Amino acid sequence: MTISRLNLVVLISGSGSNLQAIIDAIAAQKLHANIKAVISNRPDVKGLARAQSAGIPAITLDHKNFESREAFDQQLIHEIDQQQPDLIILAGFMRILTDDFVAHYNGRMLNIHPSLLPEFKGLNTHQRAIDAGVKQHGVTVHYVSNELDGGPLVLQAVIDVTQQDNAETLQQRVHQQEHIIYPMAIEWVAQQRLKMIDQQVYLDKQPLNSPPKWINNQLSNS
Ligand code: GRF
Repeated sequence: MTISRLNLVVLISGSGSNLQAIIDAIAAQKLHANIKAVISNRPDVKGLARAQSAGIPAITLDHKNFESREAFDQQLIHEIDQQQPDLIILAGFMRILTDDFVAHYNGRMLNIHPSLLPEFKGLNTHQRAIDAGVKQHGVTVHYVSNELDGGPLVLQAVIDVTQQDNAETLQQRVHQQEHIIYPMAIEWVAQQRLKMIDQQVYLDKQPLNSPPKWINNQLSNS
């Protein structure tokens, strides 16, 4: 089967370790994609340097220079669309998106969120997981909808929480899992195995009602 290369634009606000995992997966030919540009809403972040080191155009669009969220998002749409991407990847992009922005990329934008959604939407997910005393925690790849961290789920990685864990140890272990499952989900799109139509996710042509889970380095369909 010929796998067409997927053109990506990756949006970041910080360190970009997920961006790095995507860059590395492409270099290792595990992910059939090209990153056309990396765009950060914060200047001078490590993720921009990672893009530059990999020879990828690194663009800063500082939200502080815009009068409104709408004006920023319109300019962001302009910058992204110049690259004609197939898929937009949110990788630690710490901005709430306007409905117009989300609608413009409906079915073409993925996010990764460090919890087992629908648990722990929003910030400080690792501490909240500790405080809630959960036995399992993890990370979710999902399509973006206009509900914050509420779009249709694609893939989750699950880790066990031990008595010794704190927010920092959880964050480290979850991050490792992020770097595995984000390139995996993007490759599913490249292989045309994963799609979203009318807010319904399909994997291998089957409606996905519960996301597959990556547990102990294995994929299990739940
Ligand atoms: C990750 O924890 C991701 O789940 C969340 O933002 C963080 C980004 O980390 N959306 P990095 O910049 O990719 O290292």
